[in-house]
Amino acid sequence: METAGMIRDMVAFYKGNTHDINHFLKVYAYARTIGGLTGLDSGTQRTLEAAAIVHDIACPLCREKYGRADGALQEKESAPLVRAFLSPYSLPAEMVERVVFLVCHHHTVAGVDGLDWRILLEADFLVNAEECRMTSQQRQSACEAFFRTEAGKELLAMEDPSADA
Ligand SMILES: [Fe+2]
Repeated sequence: METAGMIRDMVAFYKGNTHDINHFLKVYAYARTIGGLTGLDSGTQRTLEAAAIVHDIACPLCREKYGRADGALQEKESAPLVRAFLSPYSLPAEMVERVVFLVCHHHTVAGVDGLDWRILLEADFLVNAEECRMTSQQRQSACEAFFRTEAGKELLAMEDPSADA
């Protein structure tokens, strides 16, 4: 499976930025897990895992170029970086284009047209909720707004540190 090589190359890409490295590894793990629990077909799972690995690829460039890396800037800068990163892996061309699309829309919750997009949103939010110490109320709002898989909703509730309080 090409994901092992992609993960190694993504770790190298982040040049020792352990926040970025830890973030993408966690998003990958949640995406893979939710995809598995949801029963994705193998092509969709493969697309989702590749997208999760590369989803924040534009962050270093955006921080350098603009001094920040908000969603709109990432969506603007990601496409050529994703294509260049994926070029050694011989993925089918339509899969590369779907990964590019997903990375360019991973801050967009409207118009979600597939489980790969849905699960990438859920996995990224799960990790951001933990990293940003979101409240149960913030989790609940997100859950209602764009969590749709049973596995994603279940993980969001289980991950909440205040759930047992
Ligand atoms: Fe992210």
